[in-house]
Amino acid sequence: MLILGVNSDQADVSAALLADGQLVAAVEEERFSRVKHCTGFPTEAIRQCLAVAGIAGREVDRVAVCGNPRSHLLRRIGLTFVTRPAPAQALRRAGGAARDTSLERQLAHALATSTRALPPIHRIEHHPAHLASAFHVSPFEEAAICAADGIGDLVSTSLGHGRGDKLRVIGRRFSPHSLGLLYTSVTQYLGFRSHGDEYKVMGLAAFGEPNYVEELARVLKVRPDGRYWLDRSFFLPARELLAVPSSDGRPRPRRLFSPRLEQLLGPARQPKEPLAARHRDVARSLQVVFEEAALRVLRSLAARTGAPHLCVAGGCFMNSALNGRIEGETPFDRVFIQPAAGDSGTALGAAYWLWCQQLGRRREFVMRHAYTGTAHGQPAIQAAIGSRREALHGFDVTTHSSVAELCNAVAAAIAGGNVVGWFQGRMEWGSRALGNRSVLADPRDAAMRDLINARIKRRETFRPFAPSMLESSMADFFHDGGADPFMLKVRQVRPEKRARIPAVVHVDGSSRPHTVTTDANPRFFELLQAFERVSGVPVLLNTSLNENEPIVESPEQALDCFLRTGMDLAVLGDTVIRRPTAVHQARQHIEPRQ
Ligand SMILES: [Fe+2]
Repeated sequence: MLILGVNSDQADVSAALLADGQLVAAVEEERFSRVKHCTGFPTEAIRQCLAVAGIAGREVDRVAVCGNPRSHLLRRIGLTFVTRPAPAQALRRAGGAARDTSLERQLAHALATSTRALPPIHRIEHHPAHLASAFHVSPFEEAAICAADGIGDLVSTSLGHGRGDKLRVIGRRFSPHSLGLLYTSVTQYLGFRSHGDEYKVMGLAAFGEPNYVEELARVLKVRPDGRYWLDRSFFLPARELLAVPSSDGRPRPRRLFSPRLEQLLGPARQPKEPLAARHRDVARSLQVVFEEAALRVLRSLAARTGAPHLCVAGGCFMNSALNGRIEGETPFDRVFIQPAAGDSGTALGAAYWLWCQQLGRRREFVMRHAYTGTAHGQPAIQAAIGSRREALHGFDVTTHSSVAELCNAVAAAIAGGNVVGWFQGRMEWGSRALGNRSVLADPRDAAMRDLINARIKRRETFRPFAPSMLESSMADFFHDGGADPFMLKVRQVRPEKRARIPAVVHVDGSSRPHTVTTDANPRFFELLQAFERVSGVPVLLNTSLNENEPIVESPEQALDCFLRTGMDLAVLGDTVIRRPTAVHQARQHIEPRQ
């Protein structure tokens, strides 16, 4: 049975395809539309899932769509009275039927079929889809489950207990009482106004002091048992969506905080205003308050379920600083977070909710790696290089016949101070580049962080970079040496090791490692081994292959990113492209270290 999972309308639209309960493909629309966190309908993501599986749209047996406008109907009606939406919006809320007609048309278009020939469509509520995305692909037979975000189908936090093939929803908290709403509101207050900017605040928090915790405790009240409330006077009236879809696919965030928050914390920072100590302190205080509240929720869930393990999803669990504390500070001994823990993951979750919960089928798939996206073979790579022939004039282009030879050459170049664009195999699912669409550099050189921020990523200087490393070396570098194939948990680097990999250690001594095994990614594993041989460290600085845009999807996009930024080498499949200035830049660059 082929099940297509779809996340549409809200931000981070995406698609996933299951064949008899096995995940065949999962991709996010933003990689094709080239609009970050894009909204609308994931037409291209659906088509690419079909292409990966080698099937036609008419072969899909069922479609599971995240979001159920008929869920919590009484609350929806109440919300309409409270927020008094514009007539068009009220019509859209009330018009579940109209929405489904539009959905059918778009689905038929994506599947290249007619609306009459569509398979059955199942609407799956947002939070159950989050819960399913976490538990149903986890390695655990039994686990507690928590989903937390801004809002989805009116819910902001939901709790579940999974055992065997099924999960039960055992609790939920409705918006506006929402940890995600709090985090996003303060993110906006701090001048980060784009959808998905919360991770910038998390990075900034490491530079501040928790001087505003008392003030924020007036905004968020948390009981020891994990029940929490927001004081609504600090927020504008609650809405169903925190970001409004737009015709160009860019989510437009609503302003969420009220003037009262500025009375409490001082004037809001404007987007271009320099970051002051006060802003860093508010970021740190928010992170402290948020982490403590979430940990209380999880401790209470542990007591309630008695489950040994935990699965989490939802935008709040994209907060890797929080994630890194869970195993040490709650009774849960292991935590599973799949790589698209945010809303894009609900396409996966909707499909699994249908498969396991509604159709009663067996849960037999475990997500052990994130490489579920599109791939482009060597012929496509050669064609892309050919199409950029003029721009690549004077560049050295070498195609290696052996992976070992390729990895040795690239490892030597990185150890010599070159920055490498590394494009291989199937694209990653989720927001992290995990060694198939990555920019790689030497973590031993502290200057690399500033160099990549300024020359390649052109982004805020306070944001840290993360390491990829051999899983077997984790305990050498971190107190908590557990694996994380998805780079979603921040941990403390052993103090004696910090000077060995300074480019990937944050100002507070933390880092967010990605652990690599030969089973998950044999070529990247081999590169890490080759780099260890030449440098003595089994670690590479790894950041996403992009420049203020979604991560690249195709070899053409990878080449264009390479050409317009200051990367020294591009490695696409078996081919290494070296900029004429690469060696010269490398020599200049490594001189201070020698
Ligand atoms: Fe969500």
